[in-house]
Amino acid sequence: MSLVGRTSSKMGKDKVKSPHVLLFPLPLQGPVNCMLKLAELLALNGLQCTFLNTDYIQNCLLKHTHVQSRFDNYPEFRFEAIPDGLPEDHPRTGDKFLDVANGIQEVMKPIFVEMLTSGKLSSKSSSPVSFVIADGFYSFAVDLAKEIGIPLMYFETISPCALWTFFCLPRLIELGEVPFKEEDYDRKVSGVPGTKNFLRGRDLPSFFRISDLNHPIIQFILKEIQEIPRSQGLLLNTSENIDGPIISQISTLCPNIYNIGPLHSLHKSILLSAQKASSHTSSSNSLWEDDKSCMTWLDAQPQKSVIYVSIGSIAVMTVDQLMELWHGIVNSGKRFLWALRPGSIAGKDSKYAIPAELSDATKERGCIVSWVFQEEVLAHPAIGLFLTHSGWNSTLESLVEGVPMICWPYIVDQQVISRFVQEVWKVGIDMKDNCDRILIEKTVREIMEDRKDEFEKSSSVMAKLAGQSVADQGGSSHHNFNRLLKDIRAMSVNT
Ligand code: UDX
Repeated sequence: MSLVGRTSSKMGKDKVKSPHVLLFPLPLQGPVNCMLKLAELLALNGLQCTFLNTDYIQNCLLKHTHVQSRFDNYPEFRFEAIPDGLPEDHPRTGDKFLDVANGIQEVMKPIFVEMLTSGKLSSKSSSPVSFVIADGFYSFAVDLAKEIGIPLMYFETISPCALWTFFCLPRLIELGEVPFKEEDYDRKVSGVPGTKNFLRGRDLPSFFRISDLNHPIIQFILKEIQEIPRSQGLLLNTSENIDGPIISQISTLCPNIYNIGPLHSLHKSILLSAQKASSHTSSSNSLWEDDKSCMTWLDAQPQKSVIYVSIGSIAVMTVDQLMELWHGIVNSGKRFLWALRPGSIAGKDSKYAIPAELSDATKERGCIVSWVFQEEVLAHPAIGLFLTHSGWNSTLESLVEGVPMICWPYIVDQQVISRFVQEVWKVGIDMKDNCDRILIEKTVREIMEDRKDEFEKSSSVMAKLAGQSVADQGGSSHHNFNRLLKDIRAMSVNT
């Protein structure tokens, strides 16, 4: 059946009474986590939701979390899963992102198209899909939605500051600022309005270091920035308080923006006030098993004494980098909790000898586990510093809890975020492109000792601003979420 045929015969101009939202996240921890929180807020407000995962992600979630029982509370919520085209044992890490992107194009995209056009998804629910919220990376989705007459909004779960640099890519290319050579890493770029004074070549997204402009990732980005403004709206995980100037820049291209962040905080606030959660209920959406023992370990540590270390869900490091980080942290003399994700050390056989001084110091004042429920860890009073890869979710979680950061960015938006952490929000130090034990030790001491008061003050200012955004009385993100609900209802009815 042709797409157009279906539009007139099935969707047509039918009035859809109860909006049925299809949510389609990028199959990675951060985006899935965000989209699940959004889905829960929509379901709580009576919208039908279908959450489209990959089989791989769905299996991880079912294995390690209570998502199924949590979402069973919402009778009109359903999970659907499709293959991602990758073998089960594929690492799905950042260094293999092109495989993930190819799987999306070659396997997921055709299934998604077929699902929507055949009406298969709709027939499983009490009303047809009437609205799509897709990750911004799915640039193919907007045309499809237009053809079958369903409104679509994009949810960009990456940082708005990096998204803005994506939008500026054509201009950066025109100005000859991208591609750039290593000797230009420290040169300031002029092609990203609003950031002229502080953004250098090395602070642009990792993909902009690729010298071949025909590289598929560069082409993905160029396509993405053309398609996003063609959607009915753009959802961003931020707030005016955090990203006001950047939001103003993006809104010159995308006028209908919904800033609903920090979403994990908004989610918590709305669920608590709807009495759907208690402060003790875990809303973890982890793809790995959360280690609970570390919370008991944290309980025994003094206030703000612990460095929490994590490089998120897709970053990898070499054994040499692991050793530099470990030595630096140990040499700082501070306590530390390290979430050392399985598969995060590069190389097939990641066996390495651990020097005695590291294992002894770790036994004495460290705790190394595989994976934690990070939101809970960052909220623990014992945490005084976060050594992070500067993923957007990690950064927001740290901002909300007022925890200063040492940034060691790895990929995508993290290079931009880490610069903003240091230069704009002033809540940390960017260690970009350096992984050296002396620098790490020095930076830890700088934040936890020499400039402690300064960082505590700026971090608590940002935490307050983030908190104000999600307040149910007058919080801008709260207001924007209500506007989103209203608009989904209005647009769905008008389809
Ligand atoms: C990266 C990007 O930097 C991100 O901005 C982009 O949208 C997707 O790719 P990732 O490495 O997953 O993402 O980092 P981040 O965005 O910080 O998300 C990681 C999530 O995993 C966070 O919500 C964090 O709370 C959670 N996490 C991480 C845990 O719950 N436990 C851990 O041990 C580590």
